[in-house]
Amino acid sequence: MSLLIYGAYGYTGELVAREAVERGLDVIVAGRNAVRTEHLAATLGCEARPFELESAQFNLDAVDVLLNCAGPFVHTYEPLVDACLRTDTNYLDVTGELSVFEALAERDREAEKAGVCLLPGVGFDVVPTDCLAGHLHDRLPSADALRLGFDAPTTLSGGTLASIIEHADGGGKVRRDGLITDVPTAWRTREIDFGRGPRHAVTFPWGDVSTAYYTTGIENIEVYAAVPPVAVQSLRVGRLFSPILGFTPLKRALQMVARRSASGPTERQRERETCYLWGEATDGEETVVSRLKTPETYALTVDAATTAAARVLEDPPIGFETPAAAFTPEFVLDLDGVEGFFDE
Ligand SMILES: NC(=O)c1ccc[n+]([C@@H]2O[C@H](COP(=O)([O-])OP(=O)(O)OC[C@H]3O[C@@H](n4cnc5c(N)ncnc54)[C@H](OP(=O)(O)O)[C@@H]3O)[C@@H](O)[C@H]2O)c1
Repeated sequence: MSLLIYGAYGYTGELVAREAVERGLDVIVAGRNAVRTEHLAATLGCEARPFELESAQFNLDAVDVLLNCAGPFVHTYEPLVDACLRTDTNYLDVTGELSVFEALAERDREAEKAGVCLLPGVGFDVVPTDCLAGHLHDRLPSADALRLGFDAPTTLSGGTLASIIEHADGGGKVRRDGLITDVPTAWRTREIDFGRGPRHAVTFPWGDVSTAYYTTGIENIEVYAAVPPVAVQSLRVGRLFSPILGFTPLKRALQMVARRSASGPTERQRERETCYLWGEATDGEETVVSRLKTPETYALTVDAATTAAARVLEDPPIGFETPAAAFTPEFVLDLDGVEGFFDE
């Protein structure tokens, strides 16, 4: 039962590969750079399989699960998913990109036919918020509106920054009457108590605008991120520049700078920092609120992705799945250091 990790020598991929080897999984590390892939394999004592995305289908022999850690995922998911469907391999990734979730949801039937799962978003985005969504729906099955939010540390890896820049010209997104709808960046603001007193928060195009709908069936979804009040104004001014960010050469230049300058949280930060998550579901008459407290975002991602991959190796679901639908909303409570659900 083998787990192939693509993008394994990236910041997140390497942490996941190390954890998977430590947990005794049969790991194959993969990526497009042969020298870096082989060096990592030698360090971890596992198999190396260097390959370009285009030749993925010829490199999945004896692989049961492919975990894609190569982002921005909008550029990597398609050839890897095509290869997985052709070779009966289960596909997981740590994307947080809305368009990728939506594209995979559309391939549900194909995955069912192939007898494999397509399970994106097994990182911080969206495991805790998706589980919170599922939990809130269990508490109030009649809910027709869902709001989710996170208050998390902001030290990012180069790959995460590159992914944010990739979609920065897309503006804001919410779900209204079942449809993903464009709204301006930082469209709505509100004070939210994520679990340590009220914080200023703004709407954010987080993955749950896609996934919480598949987990719960709730048709109206907004996701909020905690930001200092002063940043809200900057985000709104930034709307003026978002069309410029659609200019590909500028986007690539900014991504190159991001990759060079952002090195991701240190081990100490990953061990010490905390994230707070909040969710509210309402049917217009009754409102329920629940919260979660989790380890730092990349620490949570490593644990969640490795645990999800191990579960799929054991007992794969079939078709397109969200984390909470695949493993139940209690999945997040099985991860190290997660506290909750705190219900109101
Ligand atoms: N869901 C979550 O909460 C969560 C958490 C952590 C990370 N992420 C996402 O995971 C992704 C990776 O983050 P990171 O921190 O590991 O970034 P990183 O350090 O820049 O690593 C990116 C990895 O992806 C590979 N890659 C990128 N584009 C590729 C392409 N077109 N073809 C083949 N390989 C490609 C890179 O290989 P090369 O060096 O050869 O380009 C590298 O191995 C980002 O999109 C990030 O947003 C999500």
